[in-house]
Amino acid sequence: MTKNKMRGKMLLNKINEVREEVKKWRAEGLKVGLVPTMGALHEGHLSLIKKAKAECDKVVVSVFVNPIQFGPSEDFDKYPRTLEADTELCDGEKVDIVFAPSAQEMYGNNRLSNDTLTYIYPPYFFVDKLCGKSRVGHFDGVCTVVMKLFNIVQPDCAFFGQKDAQQVIIIKKMVNDLNVPIEIIQCPIVREESGLALSSRNKYLSEEGKKDALVLSQILNNIKACYKRGITDIEALKETAYSYLTEKHDMEYLEILNKNNLEEEKFADENSIALIACRVDGVRLIDNILFTEDENA
Ligand code: PAF
Repeated sequence: MTKNKMRGKMLLNKINEVREEVKKWRAEGLKVGLVPTMGALHEGHLSLIKKAKAECDKVVVSVFVNPIQFGPSEDFDKYPRTLEADTELCDGEKVDIVFAPSAQEMYGNNRLSNDTLTYIYPPYFFVDKLCGKSRVGHFDGVCTVVMKLFNIVQPDCAFFGQKDAQQVIIIKKMVNDLNVPIEIIQCPIVREESGLALSSRNKYLSEEGKKDALVLSQILNNIKACYKRGITDIEALKETAYSYLTEKHDMEYLEILNKNNLEEEKFADENSIALIACRVDGVRLIDNILFTEDENA
């Protein structure tokens, strides 16, 4: 068991160590929460951790940059890895365990492909749209690692950010379809004062890129404002985006769908969600907004 600077808390790398600790908590009847992350923690993650601390007796934060959810041309090697800073932040939030396994610990000697490794494949309907269209195989990798983390930690609840809306919907679907006895708690998007949604990938943005990136939240806010003013035709709502875009924005998608099942509809209502992906400054950014009165309801 590795104890690092965390004040009496534990940084664990081994699956059986986590299991042993959680077993003790369970024997005491304690409620366990899991916050799965890929590290590079920011205020968005901290809001999940705070919520987990408020709702559970014990909290595990996993920090694992999961190789199987990155495509061959994606930023796996470049993805920020800041474990020391992450454990310090977790310590500040009184997290009970930071679980930071190696890829070897998680996947053994398996070649990381579906001819040797058991994968979870979420349904095509949920995957073949939005981020899944350009990030082929991404949600297979996410569901596989999340299910593994669920099996390792066996928490009562797990906390995910609304920022990755498609991810949360797919995970809820997996948990429901496979009768996984874990409550999925969806937490609101955390934004900078400027409106930019927090993301580990914001670190790649230049100062100018950060300004250009504000277009994502501006487009979404404007769409919601137009909806509130009575425009419900989805095509008309989507068209309002074009006046915001310049040659600095490489838009991948802008969709308005049903927030529960990602169905396409002709008219927006309180169950709608607008989702955007746009490349700015070479960085692929995503954001979304719910049409409900309270954005995060
Ligand atoms: O949202 C993330 O950071 C990752 O997709 C997750 C859920 C930790 C799985 O690797």
